[in-house]
Amino acid sequence: MPRIAYVDGAYLPHAQAAVHIEDRGFQFADGVYEVIAVRGGRLIDEALHLARLARSLGELRIAPPLGEAALKIVLRETIRRNGVARGSLYVQVTRGTAPRDHAFPLVAEPTLVVTARRARPADPRLAEEGVAVVTIADIRWRRCDIKSVSLLPNVLGKQEARETGAFEAWQVDAAGRVTEGTSSNAWIVTADGAVVTHPADHAILNGVTRLALIDLIRREGCQLDERAFTVADAKAAREAFLTSTTADVLPVVRIDGSPVGNGHPGLLTQKLRAAYLAHVAAGDA
Ligand code: PDD
Repeated sequence: MPRIAYVDGAYLPHAQAAVHIEDRGFQFADGVYEVIAVRGGRLIDEALHLARLARSLGELRIAPPLGEAALKIVLRETIRRNGVARGSLYVQVTRGTAPRDHAFPLVAEPTLVVTARRARPADPRLAEEGVAVVTIADIRWRRCDIKSVSLLPNVLGKQEARETGAFEAWQVDAAGRVTEGTSSNAWIVTADGAVVTHPADHAILNGVTRLALIDLIRREGCQLDERAFTVADAKAAREAFLTSTTADVLPVVRIDGSPVGNGHPGLLTQKLRAAYLAHVAAGDA
């Protein structure tokens, strides 16, 4: 089945889908995006993703390209036309096309691009054995709560992880606190069993997986502390893990080469991963 992309009202063959060279997303990274998991042809946690998209747009004063009902139709149609049962959907909205000028254009229609991609299940060894992370300086701006396409520090950080054989890079602020990964949220489990993750302030993206997991943690009756933790806290933790739409819940077993706990995926992490996968299997709860 040939890939089809939606661009501003038209469904086009993927290879021919394009935006204008003066699109502000291209020139200024003046846009936002969402990545939504597709399972059984259905969007997982769609409402949370659409709420975050609306929030990101609102914070940047970009007009929504479509009303919510119309947008939902486009998302479903893109999944259908690409025959995606399992994979992900990518949605990007930019401020639109206008002659290059940093300030907002007086007239510009937002650009909407939607693509869907099939994905095989992740290598089961990632969850069975856990993954390594490296720590890097968090050099990003102070509005990481906005899911902006301006991802250069994240790109450089992920590349550093790749080159050092790690799965992810955990970003560390000037005070030595872990904010989040380059495309995932960061978590630890302390010696007394509390689950800790950075609060959803301007320093991190409030992950949809993070939100869904917080709900499950509360339902499981586990202790949750939304507070910043340091690299030293993480290295001394009993367990560590990361979350994202594409990685689900993955155990972190090494930080900068030091083992976390006994160096194997933690029991609570495994329990939370199972709870999260059950939530995904149940569809858009
Ligand atoms: N990234 N933090 C950052 C910086 C992210 O880019 C992401 C997601 C997350 C996790 O958010 P969620 O649980 O909603 O996926 C946290 C997506 C997957 C990406 O850029 O591909």
